[in-house]
Amino acid sequence: MKKHVLILEAEGGSDKWLDGHRLDTMPIANAIIEKGFEAEVLFFRDEWVDEIFTRALEKSSAVIVRINPGNLVNGEDKLFDMLRRLYDTGILIMTHPDTMINFGAKDALAKLADTDLVTTDTYAYYSHDEFKESFPKSISYGIRVLKQNRGSTGSGIWRVEIADEKVTCKPGDTLPMETKIKCTEAFDNHVEYHTLGEFIEFCKQYTDGENGMLVDMRFMPRITEGELRILMVSDAPIFVVHKKPADEADAFSATIGSGATYTYHKPEDYQNLVESFVEAIPMISEKLGDIKEPPLIWTGDFMLDTDENGKDTYVLGEINCSCVGFFSHLDMGIQDKVADEVIRRITEKHNC
Ligand SMILES: Nc1ncnc2c1ncn2[C@@H]1O[C@H](COP(=O)(O)OP(=O)(O)O)[C@@H](O)[C@H]1O
Ligand SMILES: [Mg+2]
Repeated sequence: MKKHVLILEAEGGSDKWLDGHRLDTMPIANAIIEKGFEAEVLFFRDEWVDEIFTRALEKSSAVIVRINPGNLVNGEDKLFDMLRRLYDTGILIMTHPDTMINFGAKDALAKLADTDLVTTDTYAYYSHDEFKESFPKSISYGIRVLKQNRGSTGSGIWRVEIADEKVTCKPGDTLPMETKIKCTEAFDNHVEYHTLGEFIEFCKQYTDGENGMLVDMRFMPRITEGELRILMVSDAPIFVVHKKPADEADAFSATIGSGATYTYHKPEDYQNLVESFVEAIPMISEKLGDIKEPPLIWTGDFMLDTDENGKDTYVLGEINCSCVGFFSHLDMGIQDKVADEVIRRITEKHNC
């Protein structure tokens, strides 16, 4: 077993501190070193792919990826290809690109629609035709939220509701393309009015191209009470963030840029939610692609709902695992938990 962990970062981007690293990178490296392993941080560039590959092959038992793919000039293809090749040589990759894609893509929600985590009327569309065919019917059931796969911070996340008072539709009807709709974007809670047909055409950008898709889920009105984000290190819950949308008429977005307020809690403060999420991880991993280990650092976001007995339930809104940070929580020792988990996985793999 090589007692060496390689940590990869991208150069530049708004997630960097004065020394060019993400604020949580060196603390992770130092925590690994304190536990008796070597840790080395390298920057990934497409043109350095062969050198990084060779170095990892010679020295490392594991590679930790701290790269927001948006910070790579030419996208993630070369990085993902290199990581897959390293994995095939027996090096642990945290987090493996396939796990990142399977957990982090918005259609994870549709893949979990037959579980208690998500409502059954959650759909994914992979082409414009599919969306155009299905959405005029799904909106007859009530207010919907459409989610694009790319982007984050609420861009291309639309709450869509019928704004036409003349429209009298029964659930299951197909609405005419002329129907007036009100669309609110989670990015900044701004409102636009369109006809259904116009908006469907506008949404073509979201299903076009690689990894294009739209997820169509029911609007959860209790989002105004806040979204609950569980930050996880592998299968251990670390903290829960309560993200309350701005107190404005149309606000439904829990993103910080839209004016939501964040409060941090211990996992014990949301024991039921956290326990049921942790219990569900093996099932989630299986449904999302028979994944052996959960992502290294990841989050699950939940919204409140009410069951038929008036009891609170939770609905999964999103999983994030592409380079989740814990910048403002270094004093909680999360870096130690990350280091412990990395070393646990390495020693387990080498049976010692
Ligand atoms: N089904 C829903 N019902 C109510 N609000 C939702 C729903 N889905 C998303 N939202 C709101 O929109 C925000 C952004 O959606 P999200 O799926 O988290 O996308 P992003 O990747 O942009 O963060 C959420 O934080 C939440 O406030
Ligand atoms: Mg989100």
